[in-house]
Amino acid sequence: MNELMNMLSMTKPIIQAPMAGGATTPSLAAAVSKAGGLGSLASGYLKSDQLEKQLNHMRQCGARAFQVNLFVPGAEGEPSEREVQRWKDMIPYADEAGTFTSIDDEWKDFDQKVDLLVEHRVQVCSFTFDLPPEHAVMKLKAAGCRLLGTACSVEEAVLLEERGMDAVIVQGAEAGGHRGAFLPSTRAVGLMSLIPQTVDRIGIPVIAAGGITEERGVRAALALGAQSVQVGTAFLVCKESGTHPVHKEQIFQASASDTKLTKVFSGKEARGIVNAWMEENEKREQEVLPYPYFNTLTKPMRQHAAKQNDPSHMSLWAGQGVGSLGEEENVDELMERLWPGMS
Ligand SMILES: Cc1cc2nc3c(=O)[nH]c(=O)nc-3n(C[C@H](O)[C@H](O)[C@H](O)COP(=O)(O)O)c2cc1C
Repeated sequence: MNELMNMLSMTKPIIQAPMAGGATTPSLAAAVSKAGGLGSLASGYLKSDQLEKQLNHMRQCGARAFQVNLFVPGAEGEPSEREVQRWKDMIPYADEAGTFTSIDDEWKDFDQKVDLLVEHRVQVCSFTFDLPPEHAVMKLKAAGCRLLGTACSVEEAVLLEERGMDAVIVQGAEAGGHRGAFLPSTRAVGLMSLIPQTVDRIGIPVIAAGGITEERGVRAALALGAQSVQVGTAFLVCKESGTHPVHKEQIFQASASDTKLTKVFSGKEARGIVNAWMEENEKREQEVLPYPYFNTLTKPMRQHAAKQNDPSHMSLWAGQGVGSLGEEENVDELMERLWPGMS
């Protein structure tokens, strides 16, 4: 039992990554916490009333400690009508896209979620995409909530510690899904380099995320100085997850070099299995609109593809650990495989 496990009430050093988009169901998160890890809900694409339903569900499941993840809204300016129209002409079904939410509305939504976490006495809150604002840090801390920030470089980890986080999740370039990087100078750094250099620079515990799918990866991260790991892709393919069956199948078939970082689904860098949409737009990678605007425009395309069980236009988020995942497990089996025994 180390400082972090004590702080987050875990008997195994395993955190199930929050994964926005429907994968991290309350049943998945509750099963992870029950098995001695820390289960997580992802609120990134949820409205606050939807998050409240999930929090109530967690209570009904009798979950002890669990984490709720918040996206910190970005400050990018809205794109011009001409740029939007240009992309609407190229993205299938983009005419069905909803209107863009204003940055003010995003912050309102963020603050409502913070209030919900306080009201529901959520024990752990994590942030991604930027430093959380000071008012949210103060409010959550006053309510006794433990705070985790996401960093993709040592410099980002230092800023998160200064902002008052209790621990930092270092996300290596191997990681599946969106990168939490927020400094323009941050490039893709592998976890093997990121863990020890961050551990040497900050005084709070480090959690390692990216490419970990089995016990050897967990032990390697701990040997480098991390106090726990945050695992995403391996939980995506669990029986209890809400992942689309086609997405699961693509993960089972993929090898490590089948994934790539791309901006062509959301406007923000994320790692997924290469498909037709990624290949067709590789050359336009730098021309995409910023997040969340591009995400809004590609949403109908992704939804249509999912309905038709067509992986060519779905965002198949996955980390580089995919090559070692071959079949569905339940949470208890995966937890036992990642960290056998009770401690
Ligand atoms: C489908 C998917 C969705 C994700 N959504 C989120 C999210 O909402 N918030 C977040 O902080 N991280 C998110 N991540 C990143 C994870 O927190 C974590 O860094 C990553 O899964 C670790 O790499 P791995 O997938 O190789 O285990 C997501 C990852 C995946 C695969």
